[in-house]
Amino acid sequence: MYEYAVAWEWLSFAARWFHVITGVAWIGSSFYFIALDLGLVKRPHLPPGVYGEEWQVHGGGFYHVQKYLVAPAEMPEHLTWFKYESYFTWISGFLMLCIVYYGGADLFLIDRTVMDLTPLQAVGISLASLALGWVIYDQLCKSPIGRNTWGLMIVLYIVLVAMAWGYTQVFSGRAAFLHLGAFTATIMSANVFFIIIPNQKVVVADLIAGRTPDPKYGVIAKQRSLHNNYLTLPVIFFMLSNHYPLAFATYFNWVIAALVFLMGVTIRHWFNTTHARKGRPTWTWLATVILFIVIIWLSTVPKVLTGETETSMTPMQQKFASNAHFGAARDVIQARCSMCHAAEPVYEGVTFTPKSVKLETDGEIAAHAREIYIQAGLSHAMPPGNVTGISPEERRLITAWYESAISE
Ligand code: HEC
Repeated sequence: MYEYAVAWEWLSFAARWFHVITGVAWIGSSFYFIALDLGLVKRPHLPPGVYGEEWQVHGGGFYHVQKYLVAPAEMPEHLTWFKYESYFTWISGFLMLCIVYYGGADLFLIDRTVMDLTPLQAVGISLASLALGWVIYDQLCKSPIGRNTWGLMIVLYIVLVAMAWGYTQVFSGRAAFLHLGAFTATIMSANVFFIIIPNQKVVVADLIAGRTPDPKYGVIAKQRSLHNNYLTLPVIFFMLSNHYPLAFATYFNWVIAALVFLMGVTIRHWFNTTHARKGRPTWTWLATVILFIVIIWLSTVPKVLTGETETSMTPMQQKFASNAHFGAARDVIQARCSMCHAAEPVYEGVTFTPKSVKLETDGEIAAHAREIYIQAGLSHAMPPGNVTGISPEERRLITAWYESAISE
C-alpha cells in the first residue's frame, strides 16, 4: 500500500511538469502575439486587406509577418492554429487541482476553522464556482455593459474581488488563492475554447465558401484576448502563491489578492505600451512597487483564529494516530521537526511555520503522514541539511509507522 504514496507523489510531479510546460507554451505564444500585434507597422504599399507588417529577427533568420485584419481574400494552403496550448494548460491544471486539492481535501482544501465542510461539499463548491464563474463572465461580456471596454473591466474587477473574498470564506487560504487563479484561468481558457477559436472557425468557413467574413467576430475575439492579456500575470502569482504563506494565510489575504490583479494590469500596461512604441510609461513601475509594498504591509497582520483550533480527526488520520508505531514516530518528529514546524517556530531564523506545515499535535502529525513519509522517510529532504541531526534509525521509525498504518 505504501507504493500508493510513491505513485501519488510521482503522478503529482508529472502533472505539475506537464502543467508548467503547457502553461509556458500558452503564455509564451500569447505574449508573443500581443507584442507582434502591437508592434505592427502600417505602410502605404501593403497588399489589399493587410493591416500592418513587422520584420523580426530570431534564431539566425529574418521573419516578415503581415497581419490581415479580418481575413485574407482566400483560404491559405497551410494555416497554423494556436489552441492546444490553452486547452492542455487547463486540462493539466485541472488534473493538478484533482491531485492536490481534491485528493488532499482534508489537508489543503478544507480549513475547519474557516468552514466545516466535508470533502465532497468542498469539491462541489470548487467545481460549481469554476463553472459559474465562466457563465457570469460570459454573460457580462455579452450584456450591454460589454460594449464599454473600461466599464466592463471595472465590473469584472469587482467580480474577481468578490470571488477573492468569497473563496477565503469557504476554503483554506492556500486553496482560496489557488482557486482564484483557477477561476481566472478557466475564464481565459474558456475564452479561447468557446469564443476565440469558434469565431475564427466561422471566418475560415466563410473564406472557404467564398463569402466575405463579418468583422464582428474579430472584434469580439479581440476583447476576450484583451482580458486574457491582463489576467495572465495575476494567475501566475496565484498559482505560485501556495509556496508563500504570507500571501495566502494572513488576515488580509483577499485584499492582497485584489491588489495582485491591479499589479497584473500595471505591469502588462508597461509592456503593451512599450510594444506599441508609445513610449515607456515608467509610472507603472512606481505603481507596481507601491502596490507591492502595500501587500507586504498587509501581510504583517496575522490571521486571527476565530473557530475551534483543535478539530476532530478524520478516520484516515485516526488510523495514523492509533497505529502501534505512532508513538515512536511522534517522538522523532517532535525531536527533529517541531522546532521549525510549529505555530511559533523556535528554531533560529525560522520565523513562519514552513509551508504552513505544523507538526506539533497528534492530529497535525497524522494529517501530514504521507508528506512526512515522503520528505523525511523515503527522501532526505527534511530536515533541511539535516540540521537537527535525524539518524537513519529515526528515519526508519517514520517509514515503519507510515507503511504499517497505510496497509492496516
Ligand atoms: C530547520 C527547520 C526545519 C526542520 C527542523 C524541519 N523542517 Fe520541514 N520545512 C522547513 C522549511 C523551511 C520548509 C519549506 C521548504 C520549501 O519552501 O520548499 C519545510 C517544508 C516541509 C514540508 C512541506 C514540503 C512541501 O513541499 O510541501 C514537510 C512535509 C516537512 N517540511 C516535513 C518535515 C519533517 C517531517 C521534519 C522532521 C523530520 C522537518 N520537516 C524538519 C524547515 C524545517
